[in-house]
Parts: sequence; structure tokens; C-alpha cells
Amino acid sequence: MSPVVSDAFVFFGATGDLAFKQIFPALAGLIRDEGFDVPIIGVARSGDLDSLKARAAASLAAAGNTDKASLGKLLAQLRYVKGDDDDVEMFHALRRELGDAAHPLHYLAIPPSLFAPVIDNLDKSACARDARIIVEKPFGRDLASARALNATVHRVFAEPSIFRIDHYLGKEPVQNLLYFRFANSFLEPIWRHEYVSSIQITMAEAFDVADRGAFFDQAGTIRDVVQNHLLQVVSLLMMEAPSGRSPEASRNQKFKVLDSIRPLRPEDVVRGQYRGYRSVVGVAPDSTMETFVALRLHLDTWRWGGVPIYIRAGKALPVTATEVLVELRQPPQMVFHEDEPPDGNFLRFRLTPDMAISVGARAKRPGEAMAGEAVELFARHQSGSEHPPYQRLIGDARRGDQGLFAREDSVEAAWRIVDPVLHAQPPIHEYVRGSWGPAAAAGILANGDHWHDPAASLPAPAS
Ligand code: BG6
Repeated sequence: MSPVVSDAFVFFGATGDLAFKQIFPALAGLIRDEGFDVPIIGVARSGDLDSLKARAAASLAAAGNTDKASLGKLLAQLRYVKGDDDDVEMFHALRRELGDAAHPLHYLAIPPSLFAPVIDNLDKSACARDARIIVEKPFGRDLASARALNATVHRVFAEPSIFRIDHYLGKEPVQNLLYFRFANSFLEPIWRHEYVSSIQITMAEAFDVADRGAFFDQAGTIRDVVQNHLLQVVSLLMMEAPSGRSPEASRNQKFKVLDSIRPLRPEDVVRGQYRGYRSVVGVAPDSTMETFVALRLHLDTWRWGGVPIYIRAGKALPVTATEVLVELRQPPQMVFHEDEPPDGNFLRFRLTPDMAISVGARAKRPGEAMAGEAVELFARHQSGSEHPPYQRLIGDARRGDQGLFAREDSVEAAWRIVDPVLHAQPPIHEYVRGSWGPAAAAGILANGDHWHDPAASLPAPAS
């Protein structure tokens, strides 16, 4: 039996930032590419239908979408319901606006503190009947609040109807991690502790917290991108092959990775804050929230035991780029007597802003000496031109496909990993904007490893 396709789309927080930056462009993309033709109902506390339409048009213009046809259809499909999240009357009005729709998809683009009243009222007004729900990250603030939130959502929605969105999973290069690993056979023999000496993931952002000070000062880098995006990347890199094609087969293996990672200890983590952060609007003048983190993870599995996984993420760093670097062990003997001990082999997965998969190797430099140079062999190198992640993910949720959404157990396992350091709050180190974070970050590296700083852009591969 094919799954039911949702026949209406409702988004709470319709006048908010997320709707403006992501949801309207995603809906226009779905209208253009998939003929998405259902009522689209925005819910918010203020405004009216005309102002929402103006915002939708401004959103598409800001996203560079100049397709007049999809904008016209989006505006024609748009409806508006105004009111308070704790007023059940508003939800009855929503149910009336839903008309004949029997399987609405509700998107909670609102802070988690507002989830409970919205979910209760969706239930009381029958808007939740045969419905699906998408919830935005951050899904909780720590392990205890994530569990409470899961319980709240589960009071009304069953797990197959819950879509916890992590837009990283909708990114093409992130999906390609899974594809590249399991559609090829040559990686498997070396994808283990005998050949891999360490793995590092860097998510560098050259921009600062900008106008998100109030949000960011309640979150910090660990909650904002490590607990979700980067631990999802870790699980895709380290998981065993799924035992079948079903979305659950992959989600089971991803959960096992997160479940086998040791909870972080304060000594595994260095937190940084860029100079000037405390003057940002919305940030406490004595804030100790991190805008940078470097940390070291350990997996307790037969395959990965003893291989450190380093994560580094931060704002106001020198470049904007996300990369995974898998370092391979040195050959057992140095056969060639080179002046400099060469860097080892590596695999690089560049995830943003462009996509590349490459192998770092040594090749002999022409000449009499048996001396070489580093070369990088690109398996794939392209600019990111795919569908935006939110378009992909909303489309999947509409069809009931949970493959690219975070499951309850994985979300809680990821919180379990970071929970001890969220509560222990290791010391904060100031760093200069445009640097690679505090010098103390070097202290979490083991075995003589060093950080590999991603370049702003990759050199074009030789044609
Ligand atoms: C978001 C974080 O989830 O991801 C932001 O809240 C971060 O702080 C962003 O900048 C990064 O995602 P992307 O897709 O823009 O690289």
C-alpha cells in the first residue's frame, strides 16, 4: 500500500525568519518541480493574508527565485489563520480553513517552548487527526528536555507521523556520504581502525551570529550544529552497511553509531567565544556561551575503537566551508628518504560550499631523486546546484518518507553524548575574529595529529 500523501500544508510561525528564508522558497520549488497543489495555510499571531503574500513574494525575491508562475501559484494557494497558540478557537478556525483536507502536514517553525500548547490544540480541534507533523531543531536543550518534548509530541502523534527536521540530511553532499560508501567496494577494506588513524570534521563559518544574538545566546555551537548536523555526519561516516533498502535499515545503523559514542568529558572539549560577541544585540554582556567548539569523540566499536574523531565548528572563522578529512595511517616503513616526513594519505569529503570527494596521495616528482609531492585525486568536484534541502525534506514528509529525518532514539542518543558538557560548561576561551579559534583547541588532538584547515575554495581539478 503506498503511503498517504498529505493534502494540506500548515505552517506555524508563518511570519518568522525560518518561513522567510527557507519555507516559502521550498514551497515555490515544490510547486515548480512537483506540481505541489494543496492549500498552504500560514499561522501567526499578527498580520493578515495580504501581508503574508507580500512576505512570500519578498522571500522568493531574496532567494533569487524569479519564476513568476510558481510565485503566482504559491500566492493563490496561500491562506492565513491568525491567533494565539494557546487559544483553541484559533485551531477550530484552522480546521475550518482546512476544508476537505483529511491528511494535513503541520510544520512547527516555532520555538520548542511553544510546542506543547500547539500540539494539544491541534488534538482538541481535530486538526491532528490523520495528520503528520514536522518539528524544527533544536529538538530540546539537553537530554531531559528532549525526552520531555518527545513525550509531548507522542501524546498526539505516533512516531511514523513525526518528522524531526535536520536540514543537513537533505543536503546532496551529505547524502552522497552514504551513497559513496556503500555503492563502492574499494573503501570497505580500509574503512576501519587498522587503516584510519583519525577523522576530523570542520564546519567553519566566516560570518558571525549577526542578528541571531538572542537565539544563539540560548543555544551555543554545541546545541546549534554539533548535537544535530555534525553528529548526523559522524553517523553516516561510521555506520555499518544497512541491511536492506528500507529507511529504517539505515536509521537503525545510524542509531547504533550514536549509541556507541562515549559521553563527552570536559577534557574532550575546548569552547571558544569570538571577541566582540558579548556586544551583539540579544547577547548577555557576561555571556559564557560558545561560538566555537573543538572536541574529540570515541566510538566503542570493534571497527572504530581507538580512532579519534575530531569535530571543530565555529562562527567568525577565516572561511565558510565544511569538510570531513579521513586520515589514513602512514606506510609501515619509510622506504624513501625524503627531507620532510610526508603527510599521510587521506580522503576528503567537502560538503559545503561546493562538493568534492578526493584522495590525498604521494606521487614521485619528476627527476632523479626518489622524492615526491602531495597530489589530490578528485573523484567528484562540483558546485552545489541541487534542490535546496528544505524542498527535498518537505516533499519527503508530505509523502510520509522518514528516511532523511532524525528518529527519536537517535536524537536522544545525540543529546546523551553532549549532555555532560552542556551541564559542566568547560571554560570559555576568547579568540580573535578571522582566526581558527583559540590556540587551546590544539590541546584536544591526540597522537601528534594536527588540524587541517579547509580552504575557502578548492583548486579546480586538472582537466
Ligand atoms: C543552522 C544553524 O542549523 O545551520 C546555523 O542554526 C548554521 O547557525 C546553519 O549557520 C548552517 O547550515 P548551512 O546549510 O547554511 O551550511
